[in-house]
Amino acid sequence: MRILVTGGAGYIGSHTVRHLQAHGHFVHVYDNLSRGHAASIPAEIFTQGDLHDLSKLDHVMATNQIEAVIHFAAFAQVGESTKNPELYYRNNVAGTISLVEAMKRCNISKLVFSSTCATYGNPTVVPIVEETPQKPINPYGKTKLIVEWMLKDLCAAHKWSCASLRYFNAAGASPDGGIGEDHNPETHLIPLALSAAAGRSKFLEIFGTDYPTPDGTCIRDYIHVDDLANAHRLALEKTLPGEHLCLNLGTGKGNSVYEILNAVKDITGKAVPFTIGARREGDPPALVASCKKANLRLGWEANYKDIREIITTAWRWHQSHPDGYKTR
Ligand code: UFG
Repeated sequence: MRILVTGGAGYIGSHTVRHLQAHGHFVHVYDNLSRGHAASIPAEIFTQGDLHDLSKLDHVMATNQIEAVIHFAAFAQVGESTKNPELYYRNNVAGTISLVEAMKRCNISKLVFSSTCATYGNPTVVPIVEETPQKPINPYGKTKLIVEWMLKDLCAAHKWSCASLRYFNAAGASPDGGIGEDHNPETHLIPLALSAAAGRSKFLEIFGTDYPTPDGTCIRDYIHVDDLANAHRLALEKTLPGEHLCLNLGTGKGNSVYEILNAVKDITGKAVPFTIGARREGDPPALVASCKKANLRLGWEANYKDIREIITTAWRWHQSHPDGYKTR
């Protein structure tokens, strides 16, 4: 298939680009580089451009004879979205409207959309199934849910085939250490814990130890970024015309913050210095996916089932690229 990957220079996007190429697909990346890294993808398959640049979008789709789109390009920081919601509605919602209009002009009707477990908000029952009511508690989650609704209507009206993949906590890096996670600012637990273990920051702050979980810290379902990449390819290949397929992507297993810090210590051989701080606003106590539907519909399951294997790949990337893509 000839696939356009928007946001393909980002963390999950760049791993998906590699995966698609390894499976024989033609890939072209469209990314404005506001958050992504040109160094994470081959230059010859890249066009720098913005979702709001309609003529550029049309041009890149037509000249590359694109047949399907995987749409990652979005902002994804919960905290930022609560401080600057208009940025999130403009980029995540209006940007996606531009994209689907360009797809319509170019007769492209297959789309895989990067959604999130943040659309569920604060669910009381785990593991979370796809039928769990979606009640996002921050603007980031709301923008992703609005796009899911739009895609459902497009599938009904125009017989498009769309998949909304609701990721849990993306983690890890390419096992060869060539590409990995590089956010600015970094807010995610695993890279921050590795950084603290490596002595590059003084300590990690644990956001709350008084949650109703066995050890008092939050539980999350960490899923390897290459497992996410594989699910995108399968979703593209297996979603039916007229269908809006919504799937959770996780391992089905949760790890607490303390468990992550212990795993980081085992892998790096260095204890993670930490302090205990207050809860971070908007953090639900436990988010764990039920992945039965993805298994049923795509024949997909996570290859990386052990958090230690996931952290091992992240540590390899961290060691070879301590400053991310800026490392020479
Ligand atoms: N945490 C800390 N200290 C830190 C960073 C994180 O204790 O310095 C804790 C958080 O409180 C949370 C866990 O580690 O309990 C994981 O936090 P991350 O920031 O790594 O990930 P989140 O679960 O907050 O965010 C992820 C995605 C978001 C998505 C969200 C849905 O990164 O895009 O899940 O809840 F919206």
